[in-house]
Amino acid sequence: PLPKPYAVPLPVPEVAKPVRSAGGADFYELAEQAADVEALPGLRTQIWGYGGQFPGPTIVARSGRKTVVKLVNQLGVPTVLHLHGGHTPPESDGFPTDLVAPGAAREYVFPLEQRAATLWYHDHRMDYTGPQVWRGLAGMFLVRDAEEEALPLPAGERDLPLLICDRSFAADGNLLYPALGDRPGVQEGYMGGVLGDVILVNGAPWPELRVARARYRLRLCNGSNARAYELATGGPMIQIGSDGGLLSAPRTVRQFRLAPGERADVIVDFSAYKLGQHVELRNLAGEGPQARVMRFAVDRDESDDSAVPQRLSTVEALDPGKATVTRDFEFSSGSMHGGTGWLINGRPFDPKRMEARPKLGDVEIWRLTSDVAHPVHLHLDHFQVLSVNGERPAGPPEWKDTVELRDAQTVEIVTRFTGYRGRYVLHCHNLEHEDMAMMASFEVV
Ligand code: C2O
Ligand code: CU
Repeated sequence: PLPKPYAVPLPVPEVAKPVRSAGGADFYELAEQAADVEALPGLRTQIWGYGGQFPGPTIVARSGRKTVVKLVNQLGVPTVLHLHGGHTPPESDGFPTDLVAPGAAREYVFPLEQRAATLWYHDHRMDYTGPQVWRGLAGMFLVRDAEEEALPLPAGERDLPLLICDRSFAADGNLLYPALGDRPGVQEGYMGGVLGDVILVNGAPWPELRVARARYRLRLCNGSNARAYELATGGPMIQIGSDGGLLSAPRTVRQFRLAPGERADVIVDFSAYKLGQHVELRNLAGEGPQARVMRFAVDRDESDDSAVPQRLSTVEALDPGKATVTRDFEFSSGSMHGGTGWLINGRPFDPKRMEARPKLGDVEIWRLTSDVAHPVHLHLDHFQVLSVNGERPAGPPEWKDTVELRDAQTVEIVTRFTGYRGRYVLHCHNLEHEDMAMMASFEVV
């Protein structure tokens, strides 16, 4: 039986404390550990967590200030850390074969020469990202900057990271994942990716948060392996940010889609509701229990001096006319190693083969096409969507690092390769597709 919805309070992961700060940098230590947690009321679940927690602690960092994370692997398997959305030098980007062996440690250096944004960190081990993230290796990472802090947006307790992950549990409380023993990939029937029947927010099933009649900033991150959500509260929400930070201006939305890997920053004004009212965050893309996500219980009056200004930020529109090249990437299934896999341009992931060699500083157009839905994620630089099936998206440009291709679509993105030379990856963020080889390397030269 599934746990009762709205029966547990929303946990808010602790903010990580640096072990030291020196030379303009903050140093953190994250030990990856197995731990028993009470994810479902009354049951024990063994997870793998950063700091033994799922989600891991939230790292709050500043734009332009170096954050150094020492990852200590206390698990029995190799791991790799990736900061999703980070503008990171190649040696710290978590290339899928840059393994940290069991018992070993590695320092990841994040210069964070990038604007404020809601990022997240997670495991990225080649062939095993799906099962390792499923077991709990994920956490949120917020980058702040002066531009955003100057805005009167909700802050403190009213600025909430919400990591949404679906999971399945056995009757004894342990996580269920249809792995092929110790081999990469999943059992037949899971080609589409692994879906859980319990929706967790910050590690708790369908939690409830008591809120004041005030504005809240919800930083939603879809950390699910394969499930896409269509989120709605039944009332208006104001979207202020996306993967790559603030939008140029707020936009009122009734619902929005969040594919695996994507983030949305939204403001919900609970003063529009009465004391005692419940506001459900629902998933219009799900049915039954999976149509629910969490609930807000409006339980008090409090003063609120926050506001949502009509101008949030300046978002430069990348000019596709400056592109030096247009490259094609086709995301589709195909045969590999005698079975079926998920491929890019007909080839399974080979960490050594560079699918593209963009020049540092160049603007390029990448044309992505799909057979079925694939949330495509690009490392290093954020991008802008130029067209979806030939149509320009409505509204001003925004910075993204993950874009969902729906069935049989062509999406053109434009990006500029900045900051670092070296090898990075582009992949499907359906983690089972990623593990079944839907990944390509590129090298910035
Ligand atoms: Cu969120 Cu390459 O990953
Ligand atoms: Cu995919």
